[in-house]
Amino acid sequence: MINGKTRLYGIIGNPVGHSLSPIIHNAAFQALGLNKVYVPLPVTDLKKGLTGIRALGFHGISVTVPYKEEVITFIDTVEPVAQNIGAVNTLLVENNAKIQGFNTDWIGANRALQEKMSLQGSRVLLVGAGGAARAIGFGLQEAGAEVILANRTVEKAATLGKKLGCRYLGLEKLDSVKADALINATSVGMEPHIENSPVSPKFLDQFTVVMDIVYAPRKTRLLKDAQAAGCQVIDGLAMLLNQAVAQFELWTGKKAPVSVMRKALLDALQ
Ligand code: ATR
Repeated sequence: MINGKTRLYGIIGNPVGHSLSPIIHNAAFQALGLNKVYVPLPVTDLKKGLTGIRALGFHGISVTVPYKEEVITFIDTVEPVAQNIGAVNTLLVENNAKIQGFNTDWIGANRALQEKMSLQGSRVLLVGAGGAARAIGFGLQEAGAEVILANRTVEKAATLGKKLGCRYLGLEKLDSVKADALINATSVGMEPHIENSPVSPKFLDQFTVVMDIVYAPRKTRLLKDAQAAGCQVIDGLAMLLNQAVAQFELWTGKKAPVSVMRKALLDALQ
């Protein structure tokens, strides 16, 4: 029940109407009987939005497109990995209105992977060079994995590859790569282009694990091919869920009710 003591949480972005985060977080709050509520906050002026968040006493905020980078300039502290990534997706607001920034996207990817493999000392082929690849790339290195970056536009692979200090190549050169895991961090295969895959099936059998960040459809062309090649697969819902789990734990200090959150997410996508 919402009352005078309810703590406020929300997501800022533009647009936020399709976000699944309110569904996941409210399900978790309810499951643990916490007097908290999470609301969508469409924001067109980020600076004013953050002033409002401070003034209204919000305690935790998710940040989504297009503000994950820009938000860094308006907050008080940024956790080191988020600083390296150059993007923040989670805010924690203390009582004195000081805002701390974190990035749980990489934590979500790492947790999803670590359910199937150990990252320390492994080699991961990361496809893509946008914001998602940047967060996952720094996160993999944080966990002690070696990253090899492949992208359609090799110049973009070079820019991110130099930041990561890792080997990089064009997507057409994959035959020269050996790795334990493959991650698709591009939008290839997303609805409505569900027959597309960033990687030809002939390269897949060498990987122990193949992960896709695309979650609609849940079973992408890449994951179907990977399964047929005998790989273990991780779908995009795992990263989405686990980044929310990390947010919940940061905001509440409690262990997240993961199965409740997963069910809420799956029901919402039915
Ligand atoms: P995000 O921030 O969500 O990661 P982005 O910055 O737009 O999104 O990056 C999209 C990624 O998907 C890029 O790596 C892009 O490759 P290019 O750098 O060559 O554009 C990749 N991508 C999108 N469509 C693609 C396609 N049809 N084939 C291969 N890669 C594609």
